[in-house]
This record gives sequence, structure tokens and C-alpha cells, in this order.
Amino acid sequence: PYPVYAELRRSAPVCQVEPGGLWALTRFEDVAAAFKNPQVFSSAGVRTTTAPPWLGHNPFSESMIVMDPPHHMRLRTLVSRAWTPAAVNRLEPRIRSFAQVLAERLSPEREVDLVDAFAMPLPASVIGELFALDPTMTARYKRWSVDLSSVSGTTEKDTHRHDSIRATVREMEDYLSNVVAERRRHPQDDMVSDLVKTRVDGEALSDAEVMSFLFLLVVAGLETTVQLVSHSVRLLMEQPHLIARLRENPSQVGRFVEEVLRYEPSVHGLVRVTTKATEVSGVVIPEGARVALMIGSACRDGERFKDPDTFDMDREGVNNMPFGHGIHFCLGAPLARLEARVGLEVLLSRFTRFTPTGPVKWNTSLTVRGPLTMPLIPHA
Ligand code: HEM
Repeated sequence: PYPVYAELRRSAPVCQVEPGGLWALTRFEDVAAAFKNPQVFSSAGVRTTTAPPWLGHNPFSESMIVMDPPHHMRLRTLVSRAWTPAAVNRLEPRIRSFAQVLAERLSPEREVDLVDAFAMPLPASVIGELFALDPTMTARYKRWSVDLSSVSGTTEKDTHRHDSIRATVREMEDYLSNVVAERRRHPQDDMVSDLVKTRVDGEALSDAEVMSFLFLLVVAGLETTVQLVSHSVRLLMEQPHLIARLRENPSQVGRFVEEVLRYEPSVHGLVRVTTKATEVSGVVIPEGARVALMIGSACRDGERFKDPDTFDMDREGVNNMPFGHGIHFCLGAPLARLEARVGLEVLLSRFTRFTPTGPVKWNTSLTVRGPLTMPLIPHA
């Protein structure tokens, strides 16, 4: 039930977690208001977290996620033209076939790490598809996603990791810049072609902007979705009666996924930097402060959700907070929802029960929270 969040919401909803350091907002209303105010709660201020100095060249420099208005708006509008609901829906048959291949490899009554065998490869394959990755690249691409997702958790002191991550970034850049150039010459029916073609008022995306967006997809779209799928299966193990209900009513899987998003949001906190002193619920936060907007706590706020610590897939209404709020609202939300829904539909069509065979190992990140490994036995 996250007692620390509950205590903070009750007694110190706007607090500085350590003297001279990070601040945290924990109430739903305060978190939502901060997301809605990018003029004061800036995303550009956190650029160095996504690309620390040891990385040298910054592959995310033109990413919308580290931009404030007005630059953010230009990029987001251009990308949104290529990233349409129709383009996402077009992926459903591919997602289903990836999920089926993975699920067929899971043997009934045999122990498996669900993260490694299903939750990770499913979104990884989808992003590979978006990159127009050729199938011979699968093994290399696995290393790309692992290395790139580990950038923010790697410190200046972990020098043994730096060379390998820098080499990965160079390799990805070489590969992706070839794909972008190739699609400029010969557009095909895929997302990279849509990105290079997109025009708004005569403006287009530069190669650097297309590349930054492709890099961003790995960071923003992989681990988050891995955790959504893992949390879903973990919660099904804890509440096996839901498996029977969902097997009987597959059309309710989407509703189940919504409650997983609220109950265990993949992203627990996102940091902003204040551009000037500002007052939140009577507390003054100084200029230049790093402020964590705690989505994980907002989603358990009893002022907003009745019985917030109860998992209840029959809740009314949609809660978009797990995907952020305001101008940076997750561009991948429809895709993430689709991947989780289809992935679970496929798993539930094949298995009736999952029993844990060991403890779930959790990651320790403040941003993306979820299982690293989840050993279990699926039963037919
Ligand atoms: C932004 C969550 C999956 C692409 C965000 C933000 C959140 C989020 C909270 C806001 C960041 C901010 O305000 O600083 C999630 C969760 C996911 C998920 C919980 C899965 C369960 C995906 C997927 C993609 C994606 C699958 C694409 C393949 C993006 C992009 C942004 C973003 C491009 C930046 C939007 C902007 O800055 O305007 N996501 N995400 N996400 N997400 Fe997701």
C-alpha cells in the first residue's frame, strides 16, 4: 500500500526530501497542476539526467521529452502527424503474432522468468518493428535496448559501463541514420517513412529530430511497457479469480489493464526544474529546485480514488495520470494499452493459472518501478 506516500500526502504533501536536494509533490491535485504548468515546472531543466556528461554526444538532444514550449509544440505536432491512431492500430496483427510466438515458447508446467521470456521481448519486438529493423539485427538490438535503458541508472563512477554504452549509441546511430536516409530516398509503408514525410505548414523534421525520436522510443516505450505487462501477470497471480473472469470475458482485459496502470503505474515519479519560485498548497518552492511529481502516489490518493489501495477493475472512469498530464502526455499511451491488452489476451487464451516459484526481484529506480525478474510456472 505504499505507506510512505500515504504519510507524505497526509503530513507533508509538498516537501523537500533531503536538505538542499530533491522536492516531492505527492497529492493528485498538486501533481496534476504541476504537469499543467510547464512554464514553471520545466522539462528542459532535466536534460542532463537523460544524457549525463559521460555519454559525450547526446542522442536525445532533440527529444520532445526534454523540451519546453514553444520548441516542444513544433516537434510534437510534426511527430503526431506520423504517429496517428490509425498507424498504431495497424500494428495490432503484428503485436498479436509476436505475442503468440512468445506464448507458444512457454511450456506448461515448466518454470520460466516471465520478464525475460515475454514481458520484455514483446514491446522490444514492437519497437523493432517501428524502427524497420531487419530480422538479422535481433540479437544486437537486444543489447541496444538494455544499454540505452540503463543510461539514467549509470553513474559517473560506473566507468566500466561507459565504453560499452557509448559504443552502443554509436552503433544505433549508424544503423538508424542509414534507415532514415534509405526511407528518404525510397519511402515505404512504415513509421520511419511517415516521420520523414510529415509536413506541417511547410515544416519538416530534420534527420537529427527523427533520430532523437527513434532513440526516445526505446527509453520511453520499452521498460514502461515491460513493467505494465509484468505487473499485470503479477496481479493476476495474486488474484487468480480474475483469470477465470477474464478468460470468460476477454473483452474486459482492457478494463483490467486500466486498473493495473492505476494500481502499479510503471512510472512512479518524473522530475521537473522550477524556472522561478512558486507556491504549491501553501509551501514555497525556490527557483531552480528539482521537483519529483510522484505519479505513484497520485494514483493512490484517496481524495481522488475511493479505496485507493484496493485493486478494483470495476472502477468507473479513465485515469490517464499513469501516462503523465498536459503537454508531455505520453504519445505511446494507445500503443502501450494495445500491447498490454493483446499480450494478456494471448497469455490468457493459453494458460489458466500462473504460480510463482520464487520472489519477484524489483528494480530500484525512482522513475520506472517494476519487476526485473519474475519466476513462475504457467499452467494449461
Ligand atoms: C511520455 C508513461 C509507453 C512514448 C510519457 C510520460 C509518461 C509516460 C508518464 C510523460 C513524461 C513527462 O511528462 O516528462 C508511459 C507508460 C507507458 C508508456 C506508463 C507504458 C505503460 C510508451 C510507449 C511509447 C511511449 C509504448 C512509444 C513507443 C512516449 C513519448 C513521450 C512519452 C514519445 C514524450 C511525449 C512528450 O514529451 O511530449 N510516457 N509511457 N511511451 N512517452 Fe510514454
